[in-house]
This record gives sequence, C-alpha cells and structure tokens, in this order.
Amino acid sequence: MATPEELKRIAAEKALAFVPENEYIGIGTGSTVNEFIKVLAVSGKQIKGAVSTSKGTSELLAQLDIPEVQLNEVSRLAVYVDGADEINHSLQMIKGGGGAHLNEKIVASMADKFICIADERKYVSRLGKFPLPVEVIPMARSMVSRKLVALGGEPELRIGFTTFNGHQIVDVKGLDLSQPVTMEDKINQIPGVVENGLFAHNAADVLVLGTAEGAKVIE
Ligand code: 5RP
Repeated sequence: MATPEELKRIAAEKALAFVPENEYIGIGTGSTVNEFIKVLAVSGKQIKGAVSTSKGTSELLAQLDIPEVQLNEVSRLAVYVDGADEINHSLQMIKGGGGAHLNEKIVASMADKFICIADERKYVSRLGKFPLPVEVIPMARSMVSRKLVALGGEPELRIGFTTFNGHQIVDVKGLDLSQPVTMEDKINQIPGVVENGLFAHNAADVLVLGTAEGAKVIE
C-alpha cells in the first residue's frame, strides 16, 4: 500500500504539467507543497519566480535555488499550487492546518488558476470533519469564539501558535459546512476575524489527486 508521502509525491509530479514556463507562480504551504517544490527544482522547468506564503516555503525555495519574488512586485500569477486539509467534489476546500491560510487566500486570489494537490484521503463528499481554522485578532479571541459557538461550532484555541501576521488561530469543530460560501462569509463578517480557512469563493480550478492507482486530475 502506498504511503501518504508517496501519494503526495505522485500528485506533485503530475501537477508540474500545469506549470507554464517563464511565468510567475504562487506556492502554498505544507508537506504536499514541499514535495511539489522538490519536484519543480529538479524538473529543469524555468519559472520567472515564485511568490511564497510562509517562512517554511521560502526556506525550501531558497535551499533549492528557486527564485522567490514578493507579492507586491508582481501583478499576476499564472498558477497557484497548494495543498488542502479537505477538498469536496466542487473543489471547495478547508485549509489552514498549517496556519497559513490568510497568506494562501491572498496569493491564490491573484492567480489565473488554482491547482490543488492532495492525497486521496483529503477528497471528501462533505467538508467539516477537519476542524475549520479561523485566524483572529488576539484581543477579540473570546468574543469571536462565543459567536462561533452561536453558529453551532466548538472552537478551540491553537495553543502556542502565532500566525505569520501575528494573530492567533481558533480551530472550530462541529460547524455545518453544507453551504460553504455562506459559512465563509458569515464567519468573516464577525469583527475580529481576520480570515477563515474555507476556500469556497476561491475554490480550486483543478485537483490533482495522488491515489494508489496513480494521479487523477479532476476539473
Ligand atoms: C497550510 C495549508 C495546507 O495546504 C494544508 O494544511 C495541507 O497541508 P499538508 O499538505 O501538509 O497536508 O492549508 O495552511
């Protein structure tokens, strides 16, 4: 049986086909994306530069000599490649397991195409088993948590974790995510919420799934 690492590698290798040469691209965060960066580095494919979404991604890009550019230096990204914690059949996602979903949502919004790479365990018919990460301004944490309880959730502070932008994360179990767009908006309307990890407005355009039978492309 293939290990999760092998499935991630299978997806990462296939995703290379969606990366055009001589363009700027965006790169997400996480163990699946790390496989993609490694595959890109040895592929010989020339890109103009990559916009990173986290310190971990920036460090790996530098280590493998892939040029990084800042988001403010570019006006368009040809593709954005990232993983997900869950992705449904409409290619809407829960992200933020690594706490980088704010930067990820910003960078993804600049790209012509969002390519999600994931192992088959992440592909679900219904979002919500994975707790939804909500990035909050620290002083508003308790107030936001009460509002999340009123929405039907069970919020839990991610202890000892500060985001790239100096905020905290509340992971929320038990929310009804059957209407992902509505819930994404509802949560973001709570004062003190910086961004939640539902990518429903900005769903992926392509899912490259690593499966035991090989890579599957779902569009
Ligand atoms: C980070 C993310 C990641 O894409 C998500 O957590 C998946 O990570 P991994 O590829 O390690 O399973 O949203 O904020």
